[in-house]
Formats: sequence, structure tokens, C-alpha cells
Amino acid sequence: MKFKMRALCAGALGCLLFGSVAAHATNIEVLHWWTSGGEAKAAAQLKSIMESKGYTWKDFAVAGGGGENAMTVLKTRVVSGDPPAAAQIKGPSIQEWGAEGVLADLSPVANVEKWDRMLPEVVADVMKYDGHYVAVPVNVHRVNWMWINPAVFKAAGADVPRTWDEFPEAAKKIRAAGYIPLAHGGQPWQDFTVFESVVLGVGGADFYRQAMVKLDQKALHSDTMRHAFEVFGSLRADIDPDAPNRDWNQATAMVINGKAAMQLMGDWAKGEFTQAGKMPGKDYECVAAPGSQNAFTFNIDSLVMFQQNDANVTKGQHALASAVLSPAFQKVFNLAKGSIPVRTDMDLSDFDACARKSARDFQAAAKAGTLVPSIAHQMAVPAATAGAMQDVVTQFFNAPGASVDNVLDRLAQAARIQ
Ligand code: GAL
Repeated sequence: MKFKMRALCAGALGCLLFGSVAAHATNIEVLHWWTSGGEAKAAAQLKSIMESKGYTWKDFAVAGGGGENAMTVLKTRVVSGDPPAAAQIKGPSIQEWGAEGVLADLSPVANVEKWDRMLPEVVADVMKYDGHYVAVPVNVHRVNWMWINPAVFKAAGADVPRTWDEFPEAAKKIRAAGYIPLAHGGQPWQDFTVFESVVLGVGGADFYRQAMVKLDQKALHSDTMRHAFEVFGSLRADIDPDAPNRDWNQATAMVINGKAAMQLMGDWAKGEFTQAGKMPGKDYECVAAPGSQNAFTFNIDSLVMFQQNDANVTKGQHALASAVLSPAFQKVFNLAKGSIPVRTDMDLSDFDACARKSARDFQAAAKAGTLVPSIAHQMAVPAATAGAMQDVVTQFFNAPGASVDNVLDRLAQAARIQ
């Protein structure tokens, strides 16, 4: 921060020197894709904390759920030698960026603040490259949720499906009553998000891990995977014709407004309900995606910092990292975002029933060995592999009548791409 010195000379008082803060606060540019109502409100919390610390927040928001657009733009910026100070990068991609040698070491902050004690080990490991923290985790999102409009279920005389076998009966009643069973946005990442919940619900956490994390060829060719594709394909009949290209938050709005009965989406969707002033247990329900009650697909947002030449920006990165893990930020951000704090020592009494359920289920799943990383949200496998598998899944979903035999082979082939 620079001070402009001016001299004021006034008679016998002589000359007084006084300073004024010039508009030269250090810019901290942060790339993210938090652009929906709930997400933007959450991101604004970080902006205001950084401003209170004397930095200027340079918002580098790239719209597009799931972050594919943001990652494309980021690569261009890094290749041209002009990376932002921080970027929303997650999961195994952190290792890929680490290997490029462009990430900043956050150890100075992490050591002083004892991040190792504050974070679950599985989370801390993902944030480190070569033993050093290069990323700061923001939250824990659960992906295997189903968002329910209870009034629509009531009007249709339908029960909330607890398994994929029960799903068609509920969907039939909802359709007959003039509602859309499943709110969906036809974008590849949303198709993949629904698909991973179907795989988990049909096959269970062990199967999910074999197929979607270990990429085991036998699991990918199995009858269980065949059945998952059959169930997934059957959902084409439960979505409306305007689904192609719809953003995820518009699909959430259909559940909020009572046009549709359900949405299969991670709990960033809850941020939209909250933003609309809706209460869980009254206006909407959060239930586990069918068949996945005892499992938890996690999706952890994190901010990665890039090496900078300006020491002031480096200082700002440390301030940002420290702010992200502060209890105050963990609370306000996650209340707006729909996720739960990543710190294990937080009091959740101000959080709603869905968040508290998420925290309980996270612990229970960790104990039971049913805590699994989301493949659709870049937690499970390298980005290139996930991208190739997502292409296969989305092509299948958008080609009614596509052969299941064929898609099993194609998915297994895509899983070999690194
Ligand atoms: C996820 C991300 C969430 C949310 C969502 C929709 O990948 O982890 O924070 O932004 O995409 O854009």
C-alpha cells in the first residue's frame, strides 16, 4: 500500500505532514465458477474478508457449472505466463498443476496455523504437492443428494423413492399428476453427476470405488454396471424436453417453484433453496439419492495459489489462505454455499438440518468405508480420464435407444485414457 505525502502549511502552525491512502491496494485475482445466486453470495463473503484486510478482490468468475469453462480459461492464462493469484482447482488436478512447477508453497501459513491438526488427513493429503500445501480447502460438498418438493409428492400421491426400483412408480404418479418427475439440465457434467449417483445407488460404495475410482475393467464390464446404465437410460423419460443446455440452478428453480418433484444434484443446490428463503423440512427435503443412504460422495472445493513475482501478492495469497480456514469464513461461506465446513472443530448449531445430516453422514461413511470421491466433480481420477468417461456417459444419455453393450465397452476404453 502506498502513501502519498502532502505538506500543508498554515501560518504559525507551520507545516503539517499528513498521509492519505492512495488507491493502490494490492489486487488479488481469484478464478472461480461461483456464479449462481447461492454461490455468488458465498463468494462475496471471501471478497469482503479480503477487502477488510486491505486487499482489492479482482473477481475472475467464469460461468459454467462444474468448472469446465473455468479450467479452459485458466490454462490459457497460465500458458501465457500470467496466472491469477488463486484459482478454484480440485482433487487430483492439484497434483497435475503441482507437477508443472507453477504453484506457490503455502507452508509458511499452514505450519503457523497448524493445518495438519485442523483438517481430516484425507483432505490434507489432496491439498499437498510433494509434502507441501499448495491449496487451501474451502468446504465439503456431498454429491449424492436428491432434492425434493414435498408438495408435489403430496399432490401426486407418490412416496419419495428410497431405491432405484421404487423410482419408476413414483415418477409415473408424478407425471400423471401433471408434474415433471426429475428436474435436469442437459449438460455433460450434470449427466455425469446423475450417472455417478445411479452407479452408487445400484452398486453400492465398494462397487463404485472399483469402477469409478480404481477403474477396474471387470467392474466396468459387469452386470452391475449394465444395470446402472439401464436405470440411467430410463431417466430420459422422467425429464422434460427443455432440459438440453439448462443450467443446474434453473433445474433447482423448477423444484423450488413446484414444477418438478426431484433433482439429483450436490448440495450447492441447497444454496439456491436458502437464497430463495426456503426451509428444509417444510418447503423442501434433502434425502440421499436412491439406494445410497449409507454412502457419501464427497466433493471438496479448494483454492490453489500460483507463484507470483510481486511479494505483496504473495502476502495477499497467505492472507487469503488464512481467511479461508478461519472459523468465521467457514461459517458464513458454507451457510450460503450449501456445503459443510472442512474444519473438523466447527460448531454446526447455526447450520440447517441438511448440513447437520451431511456432517453426520460424512463421519459415518468414513467409519464404514463408504466415503467415496465424486468422479463427476474431479475428485476421483485424472481430469483427462474423467473427461473421456463423461463424454461416453453424456452421449449415451442423449441417444435414446443407444446400446448398453456398446456403452460398457466404450466406458471401459475411456477409463484407460490418462
Ligand atoms: C462443483 C463445485 C461446486 C459448485 C458446482 C456447480 O464442481 O465443486 O462448488 O460450484 O460445481 O457449479
